[in-house]
Amino acid sequence: MSKRILVTGSYGQIGTELVGELRRRYGGENVVATGRKKPPAILKRDGPYYQLDVLNVSQLHQLLVDLDIDIVIHNASVLSAVGEKNPQLAYRTNVEGAYNVLEAARILELDQVMIPSSIAAFGPSTPKENTPNDVIMRPTTMYGVTKVFIELLGEYYTHRFDVDFRSLRYPGIISSEALPGGGTTDYAVEIFYEALKNKRYTCFLAKDTALPMMYMPDCLKATIDLIEADASRLKHRSFNVTAMSFTPEEIANEIKKYIPEFEIEYKPDYRQQIAESWPRSIDDSVAREEWGWKPEYDLPAMVKDMLDRLSKRLGIEY
Ligand code: SER
Repeated sequence: MSKRILVTGSYGQIGTELVGELRRRYGGENVVATGRKKPPAILKRDGPYYQLDVLNVSQLHQLLVDLDIDIVIHNASVLSAVGEKNPQLAYRTNVEGAYNVLEAARILELDQVMIPSSIAAFGPSTPKENTPNDVIMRPTTMYGVTKVFIELLGEYYTHRFDVDFRSLRYPGIISSEALPGGGTTDYAVEIFYEALKNKRYTCFLAKDTALPMMYMPDCLKATIDLIEADASRLKHRSFNVTAMSFTPEEIANEIKKYIPEFEIEYKPDYRQQIAESWPRSIDDSVAREEWGWKPEYDLPAMVKDMLDRLSKRLGIEY
């Protein structure tokens, strides 16, 4: 594939590692990282970085034309917890940002647009266990409302204007490079830092709150596999994907196998209610059928790899 890809939200939790992986595959010059801030060194290293605010339509169009972009991966988004603190910001960033990107794809005739959705697109009336791909979606967070909108608008652009829109409903993503930015599943990343540094963690979710999760290598694989999937095979445009489901207690027990003195306590806050409105586990058979999705990491494999990587990066033995 010799396409030119532009990634928004490139210094976010997923963007940081996705840009690196895309550059390894498609060549540094072909993958343009963008964001509103000054880029971290890792993003400037192997390819271009441009300042971009997706709410600025003329700046967005100018960059897409000047850089001859074929595919946009629009990752810039306000996540669930920050979105409940500031719903107006989440609305503007997520809804207007996605609209601007889809409009740009229509007007400039881009080859493809990938915009993430989330397990947050489901709500309390959705079946909680093995949630199917096509099911009732009535989320109760602003973040979830914006994600349902993005899926529907993207699918509308596909059938109405022939824009090749694709979306993954990411579960909680666990990663060792960049921290997540204000979501409800962030505890599953924080717990590793605290386990290594302080041997204790205070979790903001209750111990039996199961949520669908995925380790970053699988997140990158899912994203790239869907981008590369043959459009003729896709009956859907928005896909459930998952790799594992666990509770805070289960991940803590897995960490204790390596750090026996690790202690966890539970002090659920406002994020508990958000978590309880989401599925506990996900059925991703549609993604498996239509584009061959298959995860590699389960809970034990993810925990071992996270501890290895983080202990190396932080210089803390365990
Ligand atoms: N990780 C996200 C969040 O917690 C879910 O999409 O907001």
